Amino acid sequence: MFPLFLLATAASAATTTDLAYVAANFENAGLGSVFPSFAPEAVLDASFGSSKVAIGQPVTQDTAGTRPELTVDAGDAFDASGNYSLLLVDANIVGWADSQNLHWLTNGVTLSGNGTSTPDYTAATDIRSYAGPGPAAGSGAHRYVLLMYRQPAQFTAPEGFSATIEDVIPFKVGDYATAAGLDLVAANYFTVENGVASVSVAQTTSVDPATLSVASSSASSSAAASSGAASSGSAAASGSQSQSASKSAASGSPSAPASTNTSGTGKTVPSLFALVAGAVLALF
Ligand SMILES: *[C@@H]1O[C@H](CO)[C@@H](O)[C@H](O)[C@H]1NC(C)=O
Ligand SMILES: *[C@@H]1O[C@H](CO)[C@@H](O)[C@H](O)[C@H]1NC(C)=O
Ligand SMILES: *[C@@H]1O[C@H](CO)[C@@H](O)[C@H](O)[C@H]1NC(C)=O
Repeated sequence: MFPLFLLATAASAATTTDLAYVAANFENAGLGSVFPSFAPEAVLDASFGSSKVAIGQPVTQDTAGTRPELTVDAGDAFDASGNYSLLLVDANIVGWADSQNLHWLTNGVTLSGNGTSTPDYTAATDIRSYAGPGPAAGSGAHRYVLLMYRQPAQFTAPEGFSATIEDVIPFKVGDYATAAGLDLVAANYFTVENGVASVSVAQTTSVDPATLSVASSSASSSAAASSGAASSGSAAASGSQSQSASKSAASGSPSAPASTNTSGTGKTVPSLFALVAGAVLALF
């Protein structure tokens, strides 16, 4: 039954519009400044339990407490061979791009093939095992970004990231990817908010697929596929464009971009962070 399902869906992988939809949502959520050269080659779908998360959808801290099941829908040019690194990073609130927090990092993940596939963790190495979101109360909606990077053939983990990391550490995901020679091929994000924001923070809103100007041949199937995403995502829409509001969010909330878990990480992070920051600074 399951293999038949895979065979049946292998042909209906991601369209050009599906990929453009992901890119447009990243730009709209201010994530373009964190992942400046992201050109999606596949769609990374995430499900918590039986609930598939639409890109940009708000999720409760409880729901996101266990690692989501991921599905990769390949675009035409995607080559599923090789090894992949999967990450979850807290990119903090809209307008914040200076650093991220590492919630999950596993290397050596493989895919079963082009088309639609699921990650195979059999040979993978967990560096930071999945830690669910823990945004500070009142700090607003944090953007949690799921990332799938293609590893180079001769992959070596950067210094500070080869052994198990026990904490949710602050780091710069872009610097990490450059140091490791990684190529971002697919990504998704959801938001988690703890309590009522005590600062003015822009919500991220899903992009209306109808506004995408991509070849119409693939537009209809994609619009159908993503209309669910748009409707569920828009439940959280405040109507404000995140890009235009990002400046005020950043300047109006100097305390918001704090660690996601000050209580849990305050004691042990400083030494490790110093190590990691030192390694990153030494490289760049
Ligand atoms: C997957 O797609 C890539 C790029 O089109 C291609 O080079 C490769 O041969 C394909 N692999 C399989 C198993 O079909
Ligand atoms: C994937 O990683 C394994 C080790 O985990 C290595 O033996 C293999 O050569 C890698 N494959 C590619 C294509 O990089
Ligand atoms: C946050 O800290 C609390 C208390 O130490 C801990 O139980 C929880 O797992 C931590 N959450 C994260 C995401 O690190």
